[in-house]
Amino acid sequence: MKEKLLSEFSKRFQSEAVLYASAGRINLIGEHTDYNGGFVFPGAIDKCIMAAIGQNGTDKVRVYSIDIDDYAEFGLEEADAPSAQWARYIFGVCRETIKRGGVVKGFDAVFAGNVPLGAGLSSSAALESCFAFAMNDMFNDNKIDKFELARIGQSTEHNYCGVNCGIMDQFASVFGKKDCLMRLDCRSMEFEYFPFNPQGYTLVLVDSKVKHELVDSPYNKRRESCERVAKTLGVETLRDADMAMLDAAKDKVSEEDYNRAKYVIEEKDRVLAVCDALKRGDYDTVGECMYATHRGMSELYEVSCEELDFLNDIARKCGVTGSRIMGGGFGGCTINLVKNELHDEFIATAKKEFAAKYGHEPMVYDVIISDGAHKC
Ligand code: GLA
Repeated sequence: MKEKLLSEFSKRFQSEAVLYASAGRINLIGEHTDYNGGFVFPGAIDKCIMAAIGQNGTDKVRVYSIDIDDYAEFGLEEADAPSAQWARYIFGVCRETIKRGGVVKGFDAVFAGNVPLGAGLSSSAALESCFAFAMNDMFNDNKIDKFELARIGQSTEHNYCGVNCGIMDQFASVFGKKDCLMRLDCRSMEFEYFPFNPQGYTLVLVDSKVKHELVDSPYNKRRESCERVAKTLGVETLRDADMAMLDAAKDKVSEEDYNRAKYVIEEKDRVLAVCDALKRGDYDTVGECMYATHRGMSELYEVSCEELDFLNDIARKCGVTGSRIMGGGFGGCTINLVKNELHDEFIATAKKEFAAKYGHEPMVYDVIISDGAHKC
């Protein structure tokens, strides 16, 4: 990818390019908990967005996306927002950096990536983190701290892309470390690296290739449900609620909001249970928690879909230790904790049965936990 980027860059631009990259992410457990002040347990993966970037001495950004085969040019004032969605991610990162007192000047860029789009692996966070990291390195002597880089990406989603997301994806993309998952407390923003090397097991992603669209989507509605319940319970976020509090207020919230909040309250406890189980090497408990998350996301939070429920059922039938829909939902992939001896058979069965029902094979990837944003 490096050669391709540098050669495309030198065809288009005269400036001197530096290479930056940032990763997509998986999340073992803790879904839709981040914007509720709860815990998440993600890690960066070996699929990334990489960019060749050079200062051009103007006040304009000129950028070419190899994968989309599209070019955009824009200034750095609020009124200069480009119309192409992909370019808005980069524009948003520039603006959010400037709004925080950071420096961004004109630059040329070419970028490409191998994070599958719409799979729930956070290709957009990888793009944001790659450029946020680059702006910090090129124009700000790396003085912007890493949490702020993650927040720059998150605010880009909020203010330029219409997704009211939490901090997990950008956090994972910026802080990711090879062979480690990270347990992040989204209330205090304290986190811990967990070496992740499940002896005898592999983490496998099965991508349904059903695409979700989070803009103007039910994602923002889920968040609103949680905030409504928190308000009714008199707490800042659902992190500070428990089932007894929720049950006591059952007649003050709609049935739908009750179900959403129940899922979130149960999910935040599952993250802690999974971390404890991992420390003991108790993968059966890890796996059962993953299945429980899937049920919650499907039946209570209602962010799964038929294809993902089907993949989850196949995993259960094949004896896979744990399986669940991963990421925001509404399509994307399942994450599966698979005993090595079942690995090939599970993949073959999932491909065959899914193709027979939906007319196309899912894509399958083994997860390799890797480093987050860096200069190459
Ligand atoms: C998306 C959002 C994250 C998080 C997940 C669900 O990936 O960007 O902030 O809320 O959904 O866990």
